[in-house]
Amino acid sequence: MLGDAKSEKSLNHDSNGSGRYQGPDNIDNKISKSSPINITSSFSFHNHKHTLTMANKYEQFRCQPRLPKFAIPKRYDLHLKPDLTACKFTGAVDIRLQIVSDTKFIVLNAADLSVDAKSVRFQSENASKGFETLNVELLVEDEVLVLEFSESLPVGVGVLSMRFEGTLNDQMKGFYRSTYEHNGEKKNMAVTQFEPADARRCFPCWDEPACKATFKITLEVPSELVALSNMPVVEERLNGNLKTVFYQESPIMSTYLVAAVVGLFDYVEDSTPDGIKVRVYCQVGKANQGKFALDVAVKTLGLYKDYFATPYSLPKLDMIAIPDFAAGAMENYGLVTYRETALLYDEKHSAAANKQRVATVVAHELAHQWFGNLVTMEWWTHLWLNEGFATWVSYLAADGLFPEWKIWTQFLDESTEGLRLDGLSESHPIEVDINHASEIDEIFDAISYRKGASVIRMLQSYLGPEVFQRALAKYIKKYACSNAKTEDLWAVLEEESNEPVNKLMHSWTKQKGYPVITVSVKDSKLVFEQKQFLSSGSPGIGQWVVPITLCCGSYESKKSFLLDKTSQTIDIDEPSSLSSSWIKINVDQAGFYRVKYDDQLSAKLRHAIESKRLSAMDRYGILDDSFALSMAGQLPLSSLLTLMGAYREEPEYTVLSNLIGVSSKVARIVADADSTLVNNVKMFFINVFQYSAERIGFDCKEGESHLDALLRGELFTTLAVLGHEETLKEANKRFQAFLQDRNTPLLPPDIRRAVYVAVMKKVTSSDRSGFDSLLKVYRETDLSQEKTRILGALGSCCDPDIILEVLNFLLTSEVRSQDVVFGLSVSREGHEVAWNWLKKNWGHITNTWGRGFLLTRFVSAIVSPFSSLEKVKEVEEFFASHGKQPSIARTLKQSIERVKINAKWVETIRNEKNLADCVQELAYRKY
Ligand code: BES
Ligand code: ZN
Repeated sequence: MLGDAKSEKSLNHDSNGSGRYQGPDNIDNKISKSSPINITSSFSFHNHKHTLTMANKYEQFRCQPRLPKFAIPKRYDLHLKPDLTACKFTGAVDIRLQIVSDTKFIVLNAADLSVDAKSVRFQSENASKGFETLNVELLVEDEVLVLEFSESLPVGVGVLSMRFEGTLNDQMKGFYRSTYEHNGEKKNMAVTQFEPADARRCFPCWDEPACKATFKITLEVPSELVALSNMPVVEERLNGNLKTVFYQESPIMSTYLVAAVVGLFDYVEDSTPDGIKVRVYCQVGKANQGKFALDVAVKTLGLYKDYFATPYSLPKLDMIAIPDFAAGAMENYGLVTYRETALLYDEKHSAAANKQRVATVVAHELAHQWFGNLVTMEWWTHLWLNEGFATWVSYLAADGLFPEWKIWTQFLDESTEGLRLDGLSESHPIEVDINHASEIDEIFDAISYRKGASVIRMLQSYLGPEVFQRALAKYIKKYACSNAKTEDLWAVLEEESNEPVNKLMHSWTKQKGYPVITVSVKDSKLVFEQKQFLSSGSPGIGQWVVPITLCCGSYESKKSFLLDKTSQTIDIDEPSSLSSSWIKINVDQAGFYRVKYDDQLSAKLRHAIESKRLSAMDRYGILDDSFALSMAGQLPLSSLLTLMGAYREEPEYTVLSNLIGVSSKVARIVADADSTLVNNVKMFFINVFQYSAERIGFDCKEGESHLDALLRGELFTTLAVLGHEETLKEANKRFQAFLQDRNTPLLPPDIRRAVYVAVMKKVTSSDRSGFDSLLKVYRETDLSQEKTRILGALGSCCDPDIILEVLNFLLTSEVRSQDVVFGLSVSREGHEVAWNWLKKNWGHITNTWGRGFLLTRFVSAIVSPFSSLEKVKEVEEFFASHGKQPSIARTLKQSIERVKINAKWVETIRNEKNLADCVQELAYRKY
């Protein structure tokens, strides 16, 4: 969920990701403190003493997954006053409630706030009288505020009021502070990030997605600043140096979508044909960089309006770049917040990959305005309905806007990452029980996003695009301004299609994992068998209802059936074709499963690849499945390498990009398994990639395609990593030219990353000039994409001392804490140093990055690449002796499982007969 193009693809939801920090704030979790502070300058807080936690008295409200429903919020009138100098805020809220049963208690969420107990009051409309509290207590661990009244509150409507204060924290969640420079001066801005459960850190509320209400927000801010919220401004009142900004009341929405931003910004503006005002806000002076996202947003709103047959539901849409931002972007209703790298596009200095990132992130967040904001998941168990759908729909929009990007082929990268995580026994089902707010973070991962999106694509492909769209539009209408569960969506799809959607989909969303389908020819028939696939090669016990599709010799006719038992035999219309033609199962990789062919079928597919008979998606799938099978010990490495040779003349970007990914993983594991093979393996890969590198060249061609631009960057990066001398030389020459003149045409943005990697490859402790020059470029640039590009290249150095210097640099104030994760992938030579560095700095790292998803990246990036059981032991011992960290628990287990899988893979490779001969043959093959 982070910033820069390809480098981020691998960081994105690769394990456990979300954006929550749970480290200590310097806000004390107490009920009201004494110091008088002003909200409207007309009241002050009072001294009040209360017991703080664990009150047995309120045991009934502790450790509950959901709030008790004594009262239902209908409308919040929320007033916030941030103090950007002291980094504090004060607030007041009036919540209109429906009391549903006579009760002495109102229980809602609050965390890290000081609530002024004396200010708490309930005014009943029915009884026309006010009620005072007997006790106000914050249950810290439960993040629950218990209000006990002296007498029962009557059923009916009333208004609950209170005042509170908090700190604008540095943890990128709740109401927080981000920093920027303006005219050389460092400044603070105030920003909210509430998903999944941090609205409670800004104001007391019913912080659950199903507790939808309307919001009438008021901000009191310094008069020279821009203050934004979900809705348009209705009135601004100037009051000396301050202004009070009143916003229109919102339609009903969940608390996690409420937003406010206060700071100095420029903007660009446009409108949709139906008059919705769309703006992109960014740092002062960078408004031009917002134009691309603005254009994408306006078009995407139109596209979704048609697709969902429902217009965008608010009068305006603002999108804003925030300099410190934990995730990639956040879909707040009407005020979408982004990392700079995911929103701003600089014609001169951004790469094609950055452009694609901006378009897809915008498309994703705007999809949420329907899927998530208008129709909201009933509970976090159904988070995938938000994230899986937004991911899938964003491809639909990107394809509509940029058909030349062949984005549906690129979608296969989503499936692959989903399959990768779900191939672990430490994976989890798409639908997960959530019992505490702290567990929600863990499910913003490749399962909810990528497996979620992939099973949607599988279902759409099974039902057909028209029926699917009709059902979605119906679902949006039916649940608009309300909440839905996974079953609700299946019911609408089932009704519209008359297909057994519920039965089919249960097996994919309620159990973890996926099958590998084994296909073989027996007695002129095809035999299909399913077994759970695990990357460890161990047998799993899952069973699925699998939509099988197959093509035989051509794409003209496609056969399909549902495999709902362990095995099934299929007749082929023309059995003779079994011996002559290729057979591809899982046509265009629409299904979320892997396929293992018998030798005869495999050989025919390899020829079909070489003779260019298969679709790009199928070429991708065959490679990807073979790689996974090889890792799991079900296909010899020599067979995988031989297959990779068949892709030498591969023309398609996405397929080559996957080939690049596979080659780097194979090169690394071979180096761990048998160092005598590694040079030949690298030579073979260089040979394979040289074909495309020569075609594409270092320089961009006039009018070349977006995909060629993407490919160039990745190809030369991989050639640099593989140590291809000519690439290293050429890159270093171009870098020198760039140092002389930052506008040289010799270093366009698409090859910068490759060149930076090549520069770092040459750096040693005795010749560190390349490293120093790169740091200089890093310090000079004010473009975040350039900064992350450089951070992503620094770890490619092979000198462990320099790697240590790089890692220490990451911990300095020169690197924003949101960006550190880009520098964590280091060369094989630097790996041990990185692990020691992690151990040494663990205290500081956990303090700074809390226990949120950025912390999980430290663990997954540094632990997962190991490949020995000794390391498993070392890692386990280290974390066991460093205290329980619930929010990295799952990532840690998954990373350790990956190390075990690597260790087993190393053993398999060491035991593979004839591998050396095969590698030798491939390395010296003449084309
Ligand atoms: N709703 C998420 C943002 C989010 C993530 C909030 C984790 C809380 C925890 C947003 O819609 C999202 O998914 N953002 C992605 C970008 C997207 C293009 C995949 C991200 O942040 O990476
Ligand atoms: Zn999302």
